[in-house]
Order: sequence, then structure tokens, then C-alpha cells
Amino acid sequence: MDITILGIESSCDDTSAAVIRNTTLLSNVIASQAVHVKYGGVIPELASRAHQQNIIPVVDTALKEAGISVDKLDAIAFTRGPGLLGSLLVGTSFAKGLSVAGNIPLVEVNHLQGHILSHFIDLPDREMPHPDFPFLCLLVSGGHTQIVRVDSPLEMQIIGTTIDDAAGEAFDKCAKVMGLPYPGGPVIDKLAKEGDPNAFAFARPHVKGEFDFSFSGLKTSFLYTLRDEVKRDPDFVEKHKADLCASLQHTIIDILLEKLIKAANTLGIKDIAIGGGVSANSGLRNAVAEAGRRRRWRTFIPELKFTTDNAAMIAISGYYRYCNGMISGLDTAPAARIEEML
Ligand code: KG4
Ligand code: ZN
Repeated sequence: MDITILGIESSCDDTSAAVIRNTTLLSNVIASQAVHVKYGGVIPELASRAHQQNIIPVVDTALKEAGISVDKLDAIAFTRGPGLLGSLLVGTSFAKGLSVAGNIPLVEVNHLQGHILSHFIDLPDREMPHPDFPFLCLLVSGGHTQIVRVDSPLEMQIIGTTIDDAAGEAFDKCAKVMGLPYPGGPVIDKLAKEGDPNAFAFARPHVKGEFDFSFSGLKTSFLYTLRDEVKRDPDFVEKHKADLCASLQHTIIDILLEKLIKAANTLGIKDIAIGGGVSANSGLRNAVAEAGRRRRWRTFIPELKFTTDNAAMIAISGYYRYCNGMISGLDTAPAARIEEML
């Protein structure tokens, strides 16, 4: 029997809705919020308000594009967390309202697990290659950097995590001090293509945890380099932007790859995936593919549209949970922090 799921994502600054039938994506609509660009970061209150404006038209468009009416939905999957509380509240409340109105089961989804399960989405015209279990996923988003061992769509174990900043935060914060717009990752990715990755050397972290990460030292080292150089030459950033971006990106990728390779070796796992917004980074995608060629891994690099936040990944996660009878009650509250979801 076919299972049709509506997915709703509103954890940060993208309002998104998607419809999936079994594992096949029928629609995936994303409204990105331009309002934050000029502030150099997401302003939570503005994000909540924009979600509130976007959510009805986005869900409506996703249902129309999929050719599905509300009464044909088997379940509504929504991002419970982690994310910005006000943003999560909009998606959660909307999902609950639609659930009550249509008498449709609710399914809560962990946003980070959603990023990982995006590797199981099929497109109407083609089946995508899926990793075998267990596989490792390097999960790199704006707020999290983790290595996760995935034993099944419902069983995942975090084996490494950042002890301070996330990789995405390092991109965004360093971009901000260079005067680049938010989000910094895509801009740095573009500028890095013109620069020398070995032009500058930034601090490398020494982290105790075998598979753990740290990015705050790198960020500080980047800030100090800029501060010292700008004292000597006020036009330093303008003149060396491409080299700064290339060197920063190169360092971030090196830190990520070192731990990923170590984890793959130690656990003896050869199916390796990446996911989350930073997995859109062209340098990281190439580096993981190259590392995989050398080590005979099967690498899974998501299509660009499934790297940054989207509801398709929430719908596929909802599909697996629904099939396993994991229905949520109307008393389910959004959870801003990952710790609240365990
Ligand atoms: O997964 P995501 O869309 O949202 C969160 O769950 O946080 O990730 C957003 C992060 C931001 O830090 C953004 O700068 C980064 O992904 N990002 C990139 C690229 N595209 C987005 N970082 C590096 N290179 C990119 N091309
Ligand atoms: Zn995300």
C-alpha cells in the first residue's frame, strides 16, 4: 500500500513543505528568507514572522505540485528540533492544526536525522543510489558538526561531535568579519575558487576526543590574522579575499576529512555519506569523493537541493517513522536543543 506523507520544515530561515509517496519525492517547495542577509545572520524574531507568512502558501504549493489533496495524506511529518524555538513553533503549530482539522496522524522528526536520511529520497524519474547499513555520515550544518554511524533509518549513533563551533558557523562568522553577506558558506566557496589554499596558515585544533571537532580556535586565528594585517594595510581584506577564503576553506575541509577518515578506518565502514548545508561546499564534495577513490569507499554526496534545509528530508524521515508506528501526540512541544530530543 502506498504511504503519502507531507513534510514541513521550519527550523531556521527556510520555510519548506514537501510531499513524498513511499520514498519517491512528488514535490519540494522552499521559501528562503532574504530578510536576514543585511544583518549578517538570522534574526530569530524576523525568521518566525517570515515563517508565519510563508507557511500556508508553501504547503499549499507543495500539495498542488504533488497533485495531492489533504484527505489523501497518511501523515504529517514536521521538524520538532533542533533549531530556533520561534521558527519551530510555527511549523509545529501548523502541523498540529492540519492534523486536527483533517484527522491525520502527526510524526515528529529530528532535523539532523532528516539531513542524513535525505540519502534515501528517490526522484520520480530515477532511483538514487542509497548507502547500505551501517554507514557513516559526516553531518555538517550551520549549527552542528557530527560523525554519525547509521545502523538503520531509525537507529543512529553520534560517534563524534564538535566541542565548540560548527563548521558552518566557522564559514559564516569568518565571512562576516570579511564583510561578506550571510550565509557565508556559499560566498566563501565561490571566492575560494580564485584563491591559493596555501596562502595563509591558520591554527589547527588538538581535540582530545578521537572523532570530535573544534572550530573556535580556527575562527580566532582567522580573526587575529585579519586584525594584524588590517592594521598594516586597511585594504588587506579586499586585496586578499580570494586567498583568505581558499585558505580558510582548505583548513576546514582538512579538519573534517582527518576525523572522517579516522572514523571510517577505526570502524571499518566503507559506505560514507555527507549531509547538511556545508555538504554543498564544492571543495568538501571533491575532497570526500577523492578520499573515497583512494580508500575504495562508496561515497554518497547529496544533490545540491538536498544539502541545505528542505522538507523532502523531513518527509522521508517521517515515512520511516510512520511505517514503524512512531506517531506523535498533540502535546509534542518543539525542542530547540538536540539534548531535549534524546
Ligand atoms: O543545513 P543548513 O541549511 O541549516 C542548518 O541546519 O543549520 O546549513 C546551513 C549552513 C550555513 O552555515 C551555510 O553557510 C552553510 O550551511 N553552507 C555552506 C555552503 N552552502 C551552505 N558552507 C560552505 N559551502 C557552501 N557552498
Ligand atoms: Zn539543516
